[in-house]
Amino acid sequence: MEKNILVTGGAGFIGSHLVDRLIVEGHNVTILDLLDPQVHPNSKKPPFLNKKARFVKGNVLETKLLLKLLKDAEIVFHQAAVVGVGQSMYKLNYYVENNIGGTANLLEALINKENSVKKLIIASSMSSYGEGEYECANCGRVFPKLREIKQLKEKKWEVKCPNCNLELKPIPTTEEKLLDSNSIYAISKKTQEEMTLNIGKTYSIPTVALRYFNVYGTRQSLNNPYTGVMAIFLNLIKNNKSPVVFEDGLQTRDFVSVYDIVQANILAMKSKNADYESFNVGTGKPTSIKELSELLIKFTGSKVFTNITYKFRKGDIRHCIADISKIKLRLGFKPEHSIEKNIQEILNWSKTVKVTDNFKNAEKELIEHDLI
Ligand SMILES: NC(=O)c1ccc[n+]([C@@H]2O[C@H](COP(=O)([O-])OP(=O)(O)OC[C@H]3O[C@@H](n4cnc5c(N)ncnc54)[C@H](O)[C@@H]3O)[C@@H](O)[C@H]2O)c1
Ligand SMILES: [Zn+2]
Repeated sequence: MEKNILVTGGAGFIGSHLVDRLIVEGHNVTILDLLDPQVHPNSKKPPFLNKKARFVKGNVLETKLLLKLLKDAEIVFHQAAVVGVGQSMYKLNYYVENNIGGTANLLEALINKENSVKKLIIASSMSSYGEGEYECANCGRVFPKLREIKQLKEKKWEVKCPNCNLELKPIPTTEEKLLDSNSIYAISKKTQEEMTLNIGKTYSIPTVALRYFNVYGTRQSLNNPYTGVMAIFLNLIKNNKSPVVFEDGLQTRDFVSVYDIVQANILAMKSKNADYESFNVGTGKPTSIKELSELLIKFTGSKVFTNITYKFRKGDIRHCIADISKIKLRLGFKPEHSIEKNIQEILNWSKTVKVTDNFKNAEKELIEHDLI
């Protein structure tokens, strides 16, 4: 049945793909997006904005506007956020205001006034976990903290057991793992998730938190130097520069296609099994950052090489891969994409995007703030 749906951040990378799918399914979609200039050059509407959706330019911090939009929304997908781990360590207010403040405003609007919202689904993040889960040959399953700066200075990259100091083996991270955020961005996403589930349960408004792992796909801003390792590497390759890889490049992440993220959102909207729960959304498969760089260089046919710096960034984790048993079992989620399968589409799309050369400035900012 067709529904009235509000997508905050619907002009962004993930939000816009979600909007497309909702429109195909026959829903009436309203987008609320500020067109943050860090993501949308000169705050211009992106060319991929779906013309069948109603576009409202505005901020989730505008209470009056939200109250108006919520009046006839039955489902809300909250994707709006400012996204950048390193940047959040020196622009604290910007992250707290938009991500925590924006969500607080949305939740207050949801409970205080008349509206017809039946469900709220929010974009949460794997960054809230901090380090992933590991296994120790002596101690079994362990949850280590961030590696010490001293260890990183010695270029010993792998995580050690907090009990017996043995080198650990990464294993998939489950939703049960304690959230041990290590950046202001991660803290803002964790807080957003906790506030949402708390208000949802208290007022019996079905709420769902989807903890996205590392999302990739077309439309991920190639000009936002603060986030999205694949987009950053593509920017560098297009500028004929080498992808800059920290540590030894063997750190791994779970890269998940934006199409699979959309699938998870649709399942969460449709199934009551999702209500009041948090779910990992990933593939369960590790890819190292070095592998990613080499794959991109190979497919673009570029002459650049992977620049493994053996430097480190404060706050970086070593490995975190999703355990997706819960979302598979409860919602029937099944990842259907892989980087290899999607890469050609992403490269074709990237050819249509004009890129600026702004990575150096972002790196300079991290160095200035003593984060590299
Ligand atoms: N991309 C990833 O790998 C990833 C991983 C985990 C979680 N997430 C989460 O997914 C969501 C979408 O991320 P994305 O990668 O599509 O980022 P994006 O930057 O492409 O999209 C975010 C959109 O939100 C808008 N926005 C920002 N602040 C706003 C505000 N105050 N009011 C209204 N609109 C605002 C921006 O203009 C932008 O269009 C975010 O909540 C992010 O934290 C993303
Ligand atoms: Zn041990």
